[in-house]
Amino acid sequence: MLTKEYHAKISGTGMYVPDKILTNYDLEKMVDTSDEWIKSRTGMSERRIASKEQAASDLSYEAAVKAIEAARIKTKEIDMIIVATISPDHPFPSTACILQKKLGLKGFPAFDIAAGCTGWIYAANIAKQYIENGIVSNVLVIGVEILTKLVNWSDRSTCVLFGDGAGATIISRADEKDISRFIDSEISADGTHYDLLIQNAGGSRIPASKESVEGNLHTIYMEGNKIFKHAVKSMYQACEVVLKRNHLDVHSIDWLITHQANMRIINALGKKLNIDEKKVIVNIEKYANTSAATIPIALDEAVRSKKIRHGDLVLMASFGAGLTSGSLLLRM
Ligand code: UT7
Repeated sequence: MLTKEYHAKISGTGMYVPDKILTNYDLEKMVDTSDEWIKSRTGMSERRIASKEQAASDLSYEAAVKAIEAARIKTKEIDMIIVATISPDHPFPSTACILQKKLGLKGFPAFDIAAGCTGWIYAANIAKQYIENGIVSNVLVIGVEILTKLVNWSDRSTCVLFGDGAGATIISRADEKDISRFIDSEISADGTHYDLLIQNAGGSRIPASKESVEGNLHTIYMEGNKIFKHAVKSMYQACEVVLKRNHLDVHSIDWLITHQANMRIINALGKKLNIDEKKVIVNIEKYANTSAATIPIALDEAVRSKKIRHGDLVLMASFGAGLTSGSLLLRM
């Protein structure tokens, strides 16, 4: 393991979800589905939908303001912004640069990470390295998604699954005596399965055209049951790596926060890790799959409701398009 010059910690969290709620019953009126199917197969009851005017940077801004306040820092103390998203405001420039402008900041690195639902873990992992090397002091790390603008609303196998939202975290340099700190993180990818979850058009492979729009190629294509099989395995491996590397038994973990894609995946991972189900944080019923935003949103809710407290040992794990996967182990 590399020697760390400094330690990184999460010093503040925030979240924002749009006001509009779309329930399973609403979806019953839109496609051939049922509340019973969605609930039993996924654990989802409702999800939030961004307005026509709202883009990723708008949701990010709202969440960021709350995280900055919680971290008790001044906005101008932020010295890096990383936005994890696959539904940015525009293909370019990055949503991070747009957010930088919204916050009235400039003169430091701001960039996006596209690692699907593992995006926030990837971004936090990068922020951790920059802090530990002493290069920066306060990184604003966002997970944000407006996937309801990318779904094919006539495809029942995907349109019921996603919701919109943003989760923000301030990752800061920890004081020497501070018990709050990142302990370890592992990120990985298996590109052999890149085509299982994909937005086919809009890039240089299939640029936007009349045909690409008519063929629904700008919407989300997903082979859900194939991804399902990788999900538990890859998250389990990512958790095992950090637990073993730090000589920790799963029973010492106070809280497990996993990507909220499917209640059956969350349960299967919890069972495989042999962790007490009371320690597993779940909010999938309220927000469905907000992709890169699920973990920072769940973290913020758990911190604000005082479920997760200062000093608690938290393990996080995610998987997503790529296929990417990753874990993060930290003391709050
Ligand atoms: O966020 C990161 C990446 N994504 C994921 O994590 C997704 C992982 N995958 C999953 O969560 C699950 O595979 C799904 C929830 C997407 C699907 O659940 P499943 O148990 O794997 O169902 P399935 O795709 O095997 O479909 C079972 C049946 C099919 O009907 P037949 O062929 O058995 O007659 C589907 O057509 O369920 C049907 N179906 C639906 N029925 C009612 C698919 N979607 C729906 C729906 N309502 N919304």
